[in-house]
Amino acid sequence: LKNGLGRTPPMGWNSWNHFGCGINETIIRDIADAMVDTGLAKLGYEYINIDDCWADFNRDSQGNLAANASTFPSGIMALADYVHGKRLKLGIYGDAGVRTCSKLMPGSLGYEEQDARTYASWGIDYLKYDNCHSRKTSPITRYTKMSEALLNSGRNIFFSLCEWGVDDPATWAGGIGNSWRTTVDIKDKWESMTNNADQSNKWASYAGPGGWNDPDMLEVGNGGMTTEEYRSHFSIWALVKAPLLIGCDIRLMSNETKEILSNQNVIAVNQDELGVQGHKVQQDGYLEVWAGQLSGGRVALVMWNRGPAGASITASWSNISLSLSAVVDAHDLWTDEVTSSVQGSLKRDVDSHACKMYILTPK
Ligand code: GLA
Repeated sequence: LKNGLGRTPPMGWNSWNHFGCGINETIIRDIADAMVDTGLAKLGYEYINIDDCWADFNRDSQGNLAANASTFPSGIMALADYVHGKRLKLGIYGDAGVRTCSKLMPGSLGYEEQDARTYASWGIDYLKYDNCHSRKTSPITRYTKMSEALLNSGRNIFFSLCEWGVDDPATWAGGIGNSWRTTVDIKDKWESMTNNADQSNKWASYAGPGGWNDPDMLEVGNGGMTTEEYRSHFSIWALVKAPLLIGCDIRLMSNETKEILSNQNVIAVNQDELGVQGHKVQQDGYLEVWAGQLSGGRVALVMWNRGPAGASITASWSNISLSLSAVVDAHDLWTDEVTSSVQGSLKRDVDSHACKMYILTPK
């Protein structure tokens, strides 16, 4: 979407994966504090996104959405002020149907302009727009309506389509939103994470500055995967230019979690100005190579062992848009080691469910 936003994939936090409907304004404020105090904000994480269950069950007497009076008693505008005061941005959640997916709050179908005006007046910076209870009407019509309402709202609002990939949004959402979900909901499990990576992969060519494929939010730190699996999760999400929306409780994260989410090398791949989505370029059973172009003629590379035992993976230049004669320096983005003057291919041992990630810089 040409609203000037999302020139690189959005980075931030969202409440759903960890808290579900158990949210309130104290949690959101504390998360904003933690974003700054942990140093994540200065690495680029800027959106604090409230997901489902923030509003009252019904609209008010004027038909406006209203914050849930018991969990968000100070209101959303006050929260936006607080978050802006920390130089962060506030995101919110709505639905392109008559109720949101939790059914606990109204959807925006038929109220698009009114709700967009409400969000703008509160100082909202990002809208995640879900697809439940849509009365089976065309998603293109419903999402276009909100996209236009946001553009006319007087505030620049990042528009995130949450249409679960059911109607191949990559093929039509480029002019409507800044990102679009390509997958079912992620779960905090290896099978789910790898499955979403594969589902999103086939739409790689549709991503670029202003509009990104979204394989769903990060589960890093939520406890259902090993540290190596989370490292793979983060590496692949970065490579495929996915939104980097943290989904754990950053107030209480472990050192391992913080180390993963704070890897500046990996974040730089995600935020590279060229905006090319990396994709799966080589597969031999469980052993995969994913790669994508970066600015300056560099290549980002992930060697990913999805199998049950350690194995050796060879990434061949012929699969990763380097000429066979190219000589590169290979920077390991997790250990920071540089191997100089590599030619033709790179061979590495990779543990089960782990990956190695590199930036290759031609000499
Ligand atoms: C859908 C979305 C999730 C989350 C929930 C909230 O399932 O895909 O990301 O927003 O709704 O109810």
